[in-house]
Amino acid sequence: MRILVTGGAGFIGSHLADRFVADGHDVVALDDLSSGKAGQVNARARLVVADVRSKAARAAVLAFAPEVVCHHAAQMDVRRSVVDPAFDADVNLVGLNNVVEAARQGGALAHVLFASSGGAMYGEQETYPAPESHPTRPESPYGLAKAASTASVTRPCATATSMARGRTHMARPVSSPSSARASSTARR
Ligand SMILES: NC(=O)c1ccc[n+]([C@@H]2O[C@H](COP(=O)([O-])OP(=O)(O)OC[C@H]3O[C@@H](n4cnc5c(N)ncnc54)[C@H](O)[C@@H]3O)[C@@H](O)[C@H]2O)c1
Repeated sequence: MRILVTGGAGFIGSHLADRFVADGHDVVALDDLSSGKAGQVNARARLVVADVRSKAARAAVLAFAPEVVCHHAAQMDVRRSVVDPAFDADVNLVGLNNVVEAARQGGALAHVLFASSGGAMYGEQETYPAPESHPTRPESPYGLAKAASTASVTRPCATATSMARGRTHMARPVSSPSSARASSTARR
């Protein structure tokens, strides 16, 4: 399958790209390298360096015509989202729609896998762990944009969607301490 991994040079996206490549899929990693590293992208995947909000990204996605969009590109900083909510919404909500609409226009899109959020969307939890049916009460612009993005890709006319909510506990093997990606346990 043709699989687009946005944020494919980042922590989770690069691991997913590794797995998709290993399973024989045709993978494009789209990333602006604002925090991701080109060296983390699997050598058998094609890296497109572009901002998810851009016309260049749109053109690259349209040309690739992915069957699956695995959307992991994001403005990840909750504090920055509070300082600059417009930037957060622009990257996290508008960027998502820019990519998904280009993929839809490509004509082959069958599935969107969206990296949502658990903690940032649920707010103060009533039960632990929160079930998928837990009420969402986002307390930050980051959480709001994730909630809006989730609604956007799961609206009735949307392409089949899967969501990953929650924390990630993994680390990419690294060759030097300076490029170490620590295990992430933050509530994002
Ligand atoms: N890591 C966690 O614990 C966690 C928890 C919940 C949700 N998530 C979600 O999972 C996704 C991936 O998280 P991660 O930990 O791999 O983060 P990460 O920061 O390692 O990866 C994000 C990637 O997106 C890229 N990016 C940022 N802005 C971009 C833009 N405008 N255009 C193109 N690329 C852009 C960055 O360069 C980076 O490579 C995010 O959507 C995040 O919100 C992560």
